[in-house]
Amino acid sequence: MTRFVFYASCVLVASLLHVGRRGCSAERNESLPADCAQIENGGANRDGVYTIYPSGQPLDVFCDLTTEDGGWTVFQRRFNGSVDFFRDWSDYKRGFGSADGELWLGNDHIHSLTSNGSYVLRIDMEAFSGETRFAEYDDFSIDAGPTNYALRLGAYHGSSTAGDSLSHHKDKPFSTKDADHDTYYTSCSDRYHGAWWYTDCHDSNLNGQYYKEGENMPYGRGIVWNAWTGRYVSLKAVTMKVRPAAFTSDNSSTDCHTALGVEKGTIRDAQFTASSVWGNRQAHRARLNNYRSDSDSAWVASTRDQHQFLQVDLLRTHELSRLALQGGGSACNCYTSAFRLLYSVDGLVWKFHASGRIHQGNSDRYRTVTLAFHPPIMARYFAILPTQWYDRPALRIELYGCSRDNLANSHTNVTGDITVRSVFTDHKNNESPIHRYIDS
Ligand SMILES: *[C@@H]1O[C@H](CO)[C@@H](O)[C@H](O)[C@H]1NC(C)=O
Ligand SMILES: *[C@@H]1O[C@H](CO)[C@@H](O)[C@H](O)[C@H]1NC(C)=O
Ligand SMILES: *[C@@H]1O[C@H](CO)[C@@H](O)[C@H](O)[C@H]1NC(C)=O
Ligand SMILES: *[C@@H]1O[C@H](CO)[C@@H](O)[C@H](O)[C@H]1NC(C)=O
Ligand SMILES: *[C@@H]1O[C@H](CO)[C@@H](O)[C@H](O)[C@H]1NC(C)=O
Repeated sequence: MTRFVFYASCVLVASLLHVGRRGCSAERNESLPADCAQIENGGANRDGVYTIYPSGQPLDVFCDLTTEDGGWTVFQRRFNGSVDFFRDWSDYKRGFGSADGELWLGNDHIHSLTSNGSYVLRIDMEAFSGETRFAEYDDFSIDAGPTNYALRLGAYHGSSTAGDSLSHHKDKPFSTKDADHDTYYTSCSDRYHGAWWYTDCHDSNLNGQYYKEGENMPYGRGIVWNAWTGRYVSLKAVTMKVRPAAFTSDNSSTDCHTALGVEKGTIRDAQFTASSVWGNRQAHRARLNNYRSDSDSAWVASTRDQHQFLQVDLLRTHELSRLALQGGGSACNCYTSAFRLLYSVDGLVWKFHASGRIHQGNSDRYRTVTLAFHPPIMARYFAILPTQWYDRPALRIELYGCSRDNLANSHTNVTGDITVRSVFTDHKNNESPIHRYIDS
């Protein structure tokens, strides 16, 4: 479908400009790799410079084939300040630097790279202390030139460590020192010596000026990621890279990433349970994008303690690859900011995901964060246990994965580090529907 649109718009542009099909380079050759994910699945396994064909033309890029299973095409890289990034529109359009050094791949290339299907963006950052952090986002792409390469961005991944300093720039056009498309009274690019999807300036400025360790940096002018180091500290190194959302390296499990139907309703009301319920914000209201205006459009706990949970029974064993979550939405100004996950195949023996690791959740009541499971979780029962929240534990969720029928109803022996006794007490103290007791 996406490819059809791609070709169609290409033909349209060609005919509008009265140029022949040969003037349109958007056709890809299926047998040539379009990105580093295809390079990796063609057998390569070492980081380095490879040739890809995102728009039919050869393009040398740096492939990161090792970070988190690899498959990443690098489109921006800074590490020692050898390349000047304070450049004009045409340089940013075409690209500059070199594939094995500091680089901006070029807005036209980034556009064609990300316009076929859905890409995950990953940003790896390093501070001068040597500490590293990263941020990942779903559905990254940039527009073509006529709409000034506007930034398209999906959900921030809750498993990221750097915090979210890019959502602020979502849907904003790109600006350079000679092409000001920001909403500030003067040019953000000039003021902060960069080129970015500026608004009334920035929450991140990864094409800002390179400052060496200890050099004095004026406010906001360096390589800034506000959510981690603030606007007075410049980073030592950063890389921005993309890979297809559906990427799985050849040795990982098969494609299994579809929404299981919490949002659509395939998962029925009776499959949800919760520890406690505030008013009529029952467990089954916990559906992603539930935006009913009548204030019951999320699960919200009545009790504010560490024993709250939202549980889904998928009826059969599933392979789960990802969780998406949102806060209370129109139900309340409340959300779950940190949580643990518990799952079970048989409902008797339960296991904490990642040895009970506390995952980062939402930071407001509307936006979506996602958490990918590497490796995937095999479970029939799945429970989210809020450990921190704003006002009250509240959730709307979707689960992604696929059914594993061959494991249906099998009593796999999960080695549990926790057991949840399935003791249910219906309608206790008028709090429907169910209480469940967790014994360590
Ligand atoms: C477009 O993306 C799909 C899914 O990632 C991939 O299978 C296909 O080969 C891509 N097409 C081209 C021409 O790159
Ligand atoms: C695609 O690339 C292969 C390998 O270079 C080449 O043999 C083939 O002719 C190309 N196909 C088209 C339609 O250009
Ligand atoms: C930066 O790194 C590049 C590539 O590794 C190297 O050629 C260059 O000399 C370095 N420049 C500085 C200023 O350290
Ligand atoms: C893929 O193989 C590599 C090397 O053998 C290994 O380190 C990695 O964990 C494997 N990935 C998955 C998802 O199994
Ligand atoms: C599972 O556990 C039961 C009881 O502890 C044991 O009898 C059985 O052999 C185990 N099955 C497997 C496949 O390990």
